[in-house]
Amino acid sequence: MSSMPTNNKPLLNWVNDWQTILQPKDVHWCDGSKEEYDQLAQKLVDSGTFTKLDEAKRPNSYLAQSDPADVARVEERTFICSATPEEAGPTNNWRDPQEMQATMKDMLTGSMAGRTMYIVPFSMGPLGSDIAHIGVQLTDSAYVAASMRTMTRMGQPALDVLGETGEWVPCVHSVGAPLAEGQQDVPWPCNSDNKYIVHFPETKEIMSYGSGYGGNALLGKKCFALRIASTMAKKDGWLAEHMLIIGVTNPDGEKKYVAAAFPSACGKTNMAMLIPSLPGWKVETIGDDIAWMKFGDDGQLYAINPEAGFFGVAPGTSQKTNPNAMATLEENCVFTNVALTPDGDVWWEDMTDETPAQLTDWRGNPWTPEADTPAAHPNARFAAPAAQCPSISSEWDDPKGVPISAILFGGRRASNVPLITEAKNWQHGVFLGSIISSEKTAAATGNLGQVRFDPFAMLPFCGYNMADYFQHWLNIGEASDASKLPKMFWVNWFRRDENGSFMWPGFGENARILDWVFDRVDGKGNVEETAIGNIPTAGDINVDGLGLEPAVMENLLAVDNASWKQEVDLITEHYARFGDALPVELADELKKLEQAIS
Ligand code: GTP
Ligand code: SPV
Ligand code: MN
Repeated sequence: MSSMPTNNKPLLNWVNDWQTILQPKDVHWCDGSKEEYDQLAQKLVDSGTFTKLDEAKRPNSYLAQSDPADVARVEERTFICSATPEEAGPTNNWRDPQEMQATMKDMLTGSMAGRTMYIVPFSMGPLGSDIAHIGVQLTDSAYVAASMRTMTRMGQPALDVLGETGEWVPCVHSVGAPLAEGQQDVPWPCNSDNKYIVHFPETKEIMSYGSGYGGNALLGKKCFALRIASTMAKKDGWLAEHMLIIGVTNPDGEKKYVAAAFPSACGKTNMAMLIPSLPGWKVETIGDDIAWMKFGDDGQLYAINPEAGFFGVAPGTSQKTNPNAMATLEENCVFTNVALTPDGDVWWEDMTDETPAQLTDWRGNPWTPEADTPAAHPNARFAAPAAQCPSISSEWDDPKGVPISAILFGGRRASNVPLITEAKNWQHGVFLGSIISSEKTAAATGNLGQVRFDPFAMLPFCGYNMADYFQHWLNIGEASDASKLPKMFWVNWFRRDENGSFMWPGFGENARILDWVFDRVDGKGNVEETAIGNIPTAGDINVDGLGLEPAVMENLLAVDNASWKQEVDLITEHYARFGDALPVELADELKKLEQAIS
């Protein structure tokens, strides 16, 4: 026993029990050291999962090429196993917890045969913070174990926080590819047609089978920090959200903190690392994907980033669009499903103005610009340590978090949704959050481009009935001092003109929107009331030096009542899914909107 890295008996028992079921060849307790990371990486190089990038160009960095059947989250294979289907609600796949426990145990039995079981202790949030929580993940993927070191506070320090009696969220993960005696392994083991991403909210358990990819396999992220944490947050009066967190300083040196919920691949990482185009403004990064928010003794809402790294979309990331990300990616990174250059570096679509003449594409095939498939997978990702980001805030791992003044909701909409709309009050803000819709991206498998409602950008990530989630947000408003609550806004960087081009330049120019948000939080600026909320009056957004035609700005902010009639029909349909569980406040807001446009 003395050789064990923990004296936590329940944890040791849990590990033992699972070891018996999973039947791995070896067991390895992760300590989180650099030496261990290097050994994992070497093992992945040896097995063909990793290609080491040129040490001079991209020190200590690797390319991972996944199986083409394992490149994104699988929402239709993601399950919430609460006691009743009503608790999971109409937007989740519910399964009976007992039945699912049996199914999973069946599949996981012997599933680690021939492989090493890594025991990965991790903290979501700064070690020892009141807002943080500990998890322990069992995994048979060295890629996952290595990635967890980048994405979380992983290893012995997390076990030390846990102590002899601490509680943890148990996470069991297997790629679902047991090896028979003497069987040759493949570079990216997974189970192409049998994937299960399973959550048991009552017992806070997570089980994942068949995938080695990001959100399916790094269980601290979407499974724990959003699906399980959202159920914990509902119970204990806090918020676990799919939001970036930034600190924004204006030219007078005043600083405010902003959180923003945009669906997957809709601009969170980019906004988190934004370099303002407006002189004198500064944006600092606290988090790029997940926010845990709790009320402080002063009645204000404080946010922490539970993660320690960025698992970001590579394609589209460039010196022009996101120089802070490019600097973050200079070393110590894992790139998954990007292309490889002949000189041992990485490349992806729109990384550079000029496309390299020759590449190895993400599938490992020779590639030239004439190819009719992209060199990098559209959902190719980087995993990078957060501390490496040039814009990282000194407060990013402050256990106390940062006080949030404004919350932005957004999505990817070609039409109808204005560049920015201010909510009239908290209840109206919850209404706006509940009707976010977005064109589907490559972050999840399925039809691209289709518009779907993605309330609060949490559709794939809410661990319980979305109607109860809306109610939780309303309750938070009810229970709080309105003057201390963040102001809410709805943004859309993706409105297109009649030629299909984006009307708004986006990226660093989004600082102009933050400028207006800043004013509104201070009670300054001018609004025009529309059916859907308050939009800036003509000229109230600083467009100096942008060269935007006034007509374009007018289009960007236009609220067309005729097209909003169709939106109202869609919202009515969206709300109908929740039946009687839909909070009356939201039904009222929809009625008000309907009246305002008729
Ligand atoms: P997840 O990691 O999946 O949660 O995505 P995310 O919300 O962090 O999205 P990310 O910032 O990675 O952006 C995804 C895509 O949107 C990239 O291709 C970006 O280049 C593009 N994008 C981000 N911000 C803007 C913007 O302001 N305007 C335009 N036109 N595109 C943007
Ligand atoms: C997302 O899809 O929202 C992501 C990537 O942030 S993943 O970790 O795969 O969920
Ligand atoms: Mn995300």
